[in-house]
This record gives sequence, structure tokens and C-alpha cells, in this order.
Amino acid sequence: MEQNITMDKIQILLVEDDLSLGGLLSLELKRRGIHAVHAKTAKEALAKLAHDTFDAVVTDLKLGDGDGLDILKASKQAQPETEVLMITGHGSIDTAVAAMKAGAFDYLPKPVVPDELMLVLQKAMEHRQLVGEVKRLREEVKDKYSFEGIVYAGPKMRAVLELVQKVAATDATVLILGESGTGKELIARAIHEKSARRSGSFVAINCGAIPEGLLESELFGHVKGSFTGADRNKRGLWEEAGGGTLFLDEIGETAPALQVKLLRALQEGEIRRVGDNHPIKVSSRIVTATNKDLAQHVKEGKFREDLFYRLKVFPIQIPPLRDRAEDILPLAEHFLRKARKKMGGKATRLSPEAAAALKAYGWPGNVRELEHAIERILIMAGGPTVTMGDLPPEMQPADAPKKKAPSGTGTSLNDMEKAHILEILEACGQNQVEAAKRLGIARNTLWRKLKTYGIASGKQ
Ligand SMILES: Nc1ncnc2c1ncn2[C@@H]1O[C@H](COP(=O)(O)OP(=O)(O)OP(=O)(O)O)[C@@H](O)[C@H]1O
Ligand SMILES: [Mg+2]
Repeated sequence: MEQNITMDKIQILLVEDDLSLGGLLSLELKRRGIHAVHAKTAKEALAKLAHDTFDAVVTDLKLGDGDGLDILKASKQAQPETEVLMITGHGSIDTAVAAMKAGAFDYLPKPVVPDELMLVLQKAMEHRQLVGEVKRLREEVKDKYSFEGIVYAGPKMRAVLELVQKVAATDATVLILGESGTGKELIARAIHEKSARRSGSFVAINCGAIPEGLLESELFGHVKGSFTGADRNKRGLWEEAGGGTLFLDEIGETAPALQVKLLRALQEGEIRRVGDNHPIKVSSRIVTATNKDLAQHVKEGKFREDLFYRLKVFPIQIPPLRDRAEDILPLAEHFLRKARKKMGGKATRLSPEAAAALKAYGWPGNVRELEHAIERILIMAGGPTVTMGDLPPEMQPADAPKKKAPSGTGTSLNDMEKAHILEILEACGQNQVEAAKRLGIARNTLWRKLKTYGIASGKQ
């Protein structure tokens, strides 16, 4: 903490109706580099307090037209951080005590010795800085909110959650956009939980993980005999979501033929089971999500424009974690607590260095990557405090993706990423699904990177 207070930049308000004492103190303070504004009456002092800010107020307790205690109160009300010093005459100890109780920093008995006043002022300024520091720290901690299990601190997620709150009150179709791991599914659930449909079910289906043919029957159901293995009639998820919410995740992955059927279902509010022409009314609320640039897919002819417009009635864009760095530490603490509950472990806090490194890291896998990193860190940490050594190599400052590798010599970012992927794959026994999870990236992303780096890896 900075203890050297620069006294020459401070401005104080001196309230003294004894003109010679006031004049003398102003002069003495000025000689010591402090700018004092001299108010000669209580009225003048109150007016100055209303119009200007001061680092400290030095006021006589007894003023011709008023009371120093009123000045103290007015000052505390206008600017609580401004320290107030009282000048007390003989026999006014009781009032001095009252002043201290009302928040005065200290009091000086008359006759006031300028050097003493300087000393007390210095102390007051140190105190003020300390209080400011504590307040700032407290705010950092307090500035952490949780909404349906969604932890955030900054204005970006707050804005997202305001949208969630608003749209939850309606039945509008929502399109959630955001990079992998930003919390799209969490937001979809929050919309459901905040809506009047919360007593209905929340049914999620990952359109990217299920083969096209199967996806259709999963969504719309099928009738007996409609395909090999369809040995009975089956309701689809759309029907099952009933009065609840149907969450279509990775909507950008749906094949063209299914896109037509989705559009029809959305427009008409009815579906047809596979193998059946009979329409069935459906009433579930539809929330979709994608980490793809759907507009681009539309341009490239991969996604139907009419469906795109039908889905994006109410788009919610979740910013990547790197664009809301103020959320990183609150999330890290949240995950540290969560991981400790799940698997035990000693670490309860982050060293300032480790915290700074987490905050500086780019988090390509967003919140999911952070969650996994914290689990790993908890395993690594031997003591109550997480230190730099417990952090994964890519978060060590020298390797942090944000920093460029030295030109010419050394390893490039790509080399580091490749080495890291190889290391994780090795650790996961070449299991790509597991490796993608640990890296905090989507399977597709990992697969693309493997291809780029020419890494041949066995198991899917
Ligand atoms: N703001 C947050 N507060 C607490 N946990 C979060 C937050 N955002 C994300 N998470 C957690 O991070 C993980 C990833 O979130 P989620 O699955 O919702 O992301 P996603 O955007 O759907 O990812 P993907 O595109 O890979 O499917 C989950 O475990 C989720 O609970
Ligand atoms: Mg998801």
C-alpha cells in the first residue's frame, strides 16, 4: 500500500470565524504547501461544501453563526470520505467527544500549533487512503452477482441477464449466440426458469450430436413401422416439452431437409411424426443456440434464410469471456468453491499473481475452459493458496496466449498450442472427446486443430 501521501495536492476547507487565527492557519498551511480555502462563517462553509470537494475540513467547534457539528454533518453527508478535524476551545471536551462520535477524524485543542495540525492532517490523509482502498476491495468482492446460478460481475453479463429477464416473460422464440463454453445452455435454462413455463419441463437436444435421420424422429417422434426398428409409436421431444421449453442446441448443425421441417413446425405450431401425415398441435417454447455465425451460413447457402429470421426474433449474444475480464475472478472463485465441494482439496484462494495470470489469459474455451482449469488447479495446489506453479503451462505469463512469442527465436504460439494439444491427448489416452473437454474447446474445434497441425490421433 502506498503510504507516502502527497500533501501538496490536497485542498482543505478551513472554517474559522476568528479571523486572525483563520488567517494565520491559512498562511502556515500555505507555507507547508497545502491549499486552504478559508470560510469565515458557518453559512459560507456550508455553501462551499455544497459547491466544491475537499480532502479535509478543519472547523472550529464554536462559530458565530452556527455550530461546527453542523459543518461536520453537512460534510459527511456531502462527501463521506472527506476527513473532518475539529478545533476545540477550553472546556468543550464533551462536544469534542460528540464530534468524534459523529465521525470527526480528530480534534485539536486551542491554541492550534501549525505543526500539530500538519501532523494530524497527514494522518487523516493516510486514513482516507486506507478507507478508500478497503472500500474498493470490498466493492470488488461485493460486485459479484448470481442469477439462476449464473455468476457475473460486469455490465456485459448484466445486460445479457436483463434481456433474459425481459424475454422470459414472453413466449418469443430466442436465439442464443456465443462462442463455445460461454454459457449458452445456462442462459437457455435461466429463460425457462424465469418464465411462466418453469413448472413444465426443459427439454434440451443437441442437434449437432445426433445423425440427421435419428434427429428427426427424436424431435418429432415416429409411428410404428415408419423405419426399421420403429416397433412402436413414439412421442418426440417437441411434444414432450409440452407446456415447457424445448432447447435446440447447435441449431447451426441441422441438415437442410430438417431445417424445412423445423420452419414448418415453428410457423404452424404443429408437427408430424415420422411416417405419419397427421399434424399434432404443439405448444412448447423454442429456444435455440449456436456458436456458429448463422448469418454467414445463410450467405453460404448452408442455412435457410427464412428459418434464420424465424429463429432470431429475439437474439441474445453472450460475449466471450476475454471481453468481460471482470467476470473471470468471480467465476474462478465460484468454480474453486464448487470443485472443492465436489472433490475436496485445500485451496481456498488465489495468490495475487495467480489471479492476475487467470485474468490475463485469453480463455479460448471461455467459461467451460475456466471451470476445467480450476479443477486442475485445485488438484495441483498443495496449500490453501493457489500459486503460479499450480497454473497450467499455458497460463504462465511467459506462455500466455496474449503475449507474442519473441520473433525469430523461440516457439511460436502455434507450436505451443500444438505441443499443449499433444500433451493433453497423451494424458487422455488419445481420447479426443475427453481431450476436447479438458482443453475446454468443442470437439469440432479440436478436430480442426488436429488437422491443421497434422496430428494423427486414434480414438474419437
Ligand atoms: N456465468 C456463469 N456462471 C457460472 N457458470 C457458468 C457461467 N457460464 C458458463 N458456466 C458454466 O460453464 C460451463 C459451460 O457452459 P454452457 O454449457 O452453458 O456453455 P455453452 O455456451 O452451451 O457451450 P457449448 O457451445 O460448448 O455448448 C457449464 O458448466 C456452465 O455451468
Ligand atoms: Mg452448449
